[in-house]
Amino acid sequence: MERLVIQGGRRLTGSVRSSGAKNAVLKLMAASILANRPCLIRNVPRKITDVEVMIGVLQGLGVKVSWEDPTSLRLDPRGDLGFHAQDELVREMRASFQVIGPLLGRVGRSRIYQPGGCVIGQRPIDLHVKGLSALGAVVNEEHGYIDVHGGRLHGAEIHLDFPSVGATENIMSAAILAEGTTVIRNAAKEPEIIEEQNFYNRLGARIRGAGTDCLRIDGVQELNNREIDYAVIPDRIEVGTFMIAAAITGGDLTVTDVIPEHVEAVSAKLRETGAEVRVDEDSLRVVSAGRPKPTDVTVLPYPGFPSDLQSPMTALLTVADGTSIVTDHVFEARFRYVDELLRMGANVRVEGRSAVIKGIAGLSGAEVVAPDLRAGASLVLAGLAAEGQTVLHGMKHLDRGYERLEEKLREIGADIERHID
Ligand code: EPZ
Repeated sequence: MERLVIQGGRRLTGSVRSSGAKNAVLKLMAASILANRPCLIRNVPRKITDVEVMIGVLQGLGVKVSWEDPTSLRLDPRGDLGFHAQDELVREMRASFQVIGPLLGRVGRSRIYQPGGCVIGQRPIDLHVKGLSALGAVVNEEHGYIDVHGGRLHGAEIHLDFPSVGATENIMSAAILAEGTTVIRNAAKEPEIIEEQNFYNRLGARIRGAGTDCLRIDGVQELNNREIDYAVIPDRIEVGTFMIAAAITGGDLTVTDVIPEHVEAVSAKLRETGAEVRVDEDSLRVVSAGRPKPTDVTVLPYPGFPSDLQSPMTALLTVADGTSIVTDHVFEARFRYVDELLRMGANVRVEGRSAVIKGIAGLSGAEVVAPDLRAGASLVLAGLAAEGQTVLHGMKHLDRGYERLEEKLREIGADIERHID
């Protein structure tokens, strides 16, 4: 039984460095399946469990994985690969689903259990299925498995009903070795998609348009034989979490190794709450101006305010000087953590996809449970700001996606300890 024990009320000050982006690394790891030669991925957040799970998934398929140094992962996909990802790992992490596209290109088939992951909405897979089917794959859903048979796929024009990150990625990966051109419209525009485009193009793919809502993939017969060495972007969600941590603790914090454009929506919202956000080339300084002003937040696909920071932002607004409304248009059930904030004295009412937050003067520490990864981060922030002690259970969620969170927070002034029974 692990838990975090936080004594609230300390201002966060100083400087903290971001880790590599979890949601980019996991997809690049899956993308290595398509390579003809070993790939080196640098700036990998080694200490998060999602990376360990993806290593397990890839090893189960036959990819050889080793650490070249503490943050550089070498993936060697040469040799025969399987097509059935290990069920127990897939159940733990939804990103395992992203091996489907690369496996279709490499072995023409994939079998995967309906993926697990954070419970933040229904999370259907219809857009993946429609897109892969349009490329000529045959998708069967039976006994909890998704079986996809490919062969040589063909290019297609695909319009996504919603700019799903995962569907965009799977379709892009499957289209790389397809015959002809694939166009994905209403594609996701997240920075992680740009990372994947760059990575695949280094392997010899011909993809354009990442970062816009229209991706164009010209199918190639085969990829090149070059080994690649790729450093992944900073984790914009971790960066945003620290920025909000500075604001909620009345702090003055510099986050380094940042791509400031990736968190523009967060900077804009923090400024609306009164905090000062100073942007440098690759760092950001957030200086709190005291109690936050209320503001409304609408969560949308990138470049909108990210759903992954909806819960930390809600934590901040619980102590604002007035009423705020936060609406999540990406996931329909991402407010389960609100019950935990209520235990800490917050005044929040959830109505469908929105939370109405009446700011109070201060939270009070309590015993709470993290229902999912980002909700866990939100409760940590609430605990840092609260009066008295907060004990947070549900560490397995936080450990999935934040590297050395309590150590990093301690280095900038938090009183936070992990207790293990
Ligand atoms: C990715 O999930 C991230 N996960 C999520 O981060 C992030 O919250 C999300 O993108 C949105 O930014 C990873 O990258 C591993 P989506 P993904 O497909 O790809 C609906 C975290 O905490 N949809 O863009 O699963 C879906 O239900 C995680 O790090 C369909 O309807 O997200 C949701 O409402 C949590 N049909 C919306 O689209 C489909 O076939 C966005 O989902 C697929 C998705």
